[in-house]
Amino acid sequence: MKKRIFSGAQPTGNLHIGNYLGALKNWVALQKDYESFFCIVNLHAITVPQNPEVLRRKTLELARIYLASGIDPTHSVIFVQSDVPEHAELAWVLCCIARMGELERMTQFKDKSKGKGENVGTGIFVYPLLMASDILLYKTHLVPVGQDQKQHLELTRDLAERFNRDYGETFVIPEPYIPPVGSKIQSLQNPTKKMSKSDEDANGAIFLLDDADSIRKKIKKAVTDSGMEVKFDESRPAINNLLTIYRLVTNLPPEECEARFAGKGYGYFKTELAEAIIEFLKPFQQRAKSFKDEEIVEILKSGAEKAREIASQTLKEVYDKMGINR
Ligand code: AMP
Ligand code: TRP
Repeated sequence: MKKRIFSGAQPTGNLHIGNYLGALKNWVALQKDYESFFCIVNLHAITVPQNPEVLRRKTLELARIYLASGIDPTHSVIFVQSDVPEHAELAWVLCCIARMGELERMTQFKDKSKGKGENVGTGIFVYPLLMASDILLYKTHLVPVGQDQKQHLELTRDLAERFNRDYGETFVIPEPYIPPVGSKIQSLQNPTKKMSKSDEDANGAIFLLDDADSIRKKIKKAVTDSGMEVKFDESRPAINNLLTIYRLVTNLPPEECEARFAGKGYGYFKTELAEAIIEFLKPFQQRAKSFKDEEIVEILKSGAEKAREIASQTLKEVYDKMGINR
């Protein structure tokens, strides 16, 4: 039997090239070797207030992005989290297994609650438990994500081990899959911060649906380090980040990337980088237009049915072990 992968993204903001290079690209590459589940995590999105109409539209748009990236719905399961109510149910069970201390240690929680004091939403606090529920319901072996999700994966493993110890072998202990290059693409405007969907500065991110002109403008405005050389160098985070993007969109070996820009300066490099990104996104953007809404709705419906079959079995097993009849 094939092993399983599970991953997901939130239908908020606009997906950017960091999401693609850090996550989606690997989902597509791995999908054939695994039984794959890709989820649109709309229940995670409501941990902060959302406009209902926008959330509905973004949910469908994210499915379109999954499909355009090359996730094959005849092979992989694509579905919306809220269509499988077991996600929220198992999350409650995990609320009863997890400890305050372990959730307080999550760096994403610390970042997001900064300055909010006692007013921070409880949804943001228990967010990692919903994520653990997503993963554990499918007895997932591998979870391809960007670097920022590593700590949540560790928590998921701890909770699974605790449940198995206390109630008997139930969950598979999942492994993270974090790509060696591209797991943390930084903001174009601030190379010490990750590229983010929620960045106030839209110039910090290249969005997957950006047109050629915006891409050229954003790359032109991208901050650079002092110095002239276009080389991979951790101590020059801005150029390192741009060159990493170049490497990933062209698929060239790192030495070849450096060789192309030897003695050429930042201006030339930026022009080449912008064109490489535009070329890279072109087939994706064309595919994105090729799906009809009704077609996507059907894919999501059949995805939810397949997902639910597995999720309901796992939840039943969990409830049985805890003395709850289903
Ligand atoms: P999110 O944008 O939080 O819904 O994330 C969806 C996926 O993209 C997750 O696997 C993240 O780890 C990944 N991701 C988000 N931002 C970045 C980034 N700047 N670089 C690489 N991967 C990222
Ligand atoms: N928390 C993840 C993020 O913000 C999204 C997510 C939710 C996820 N559930 C998941 C990722 C399960 C992998 C597996 O990026």
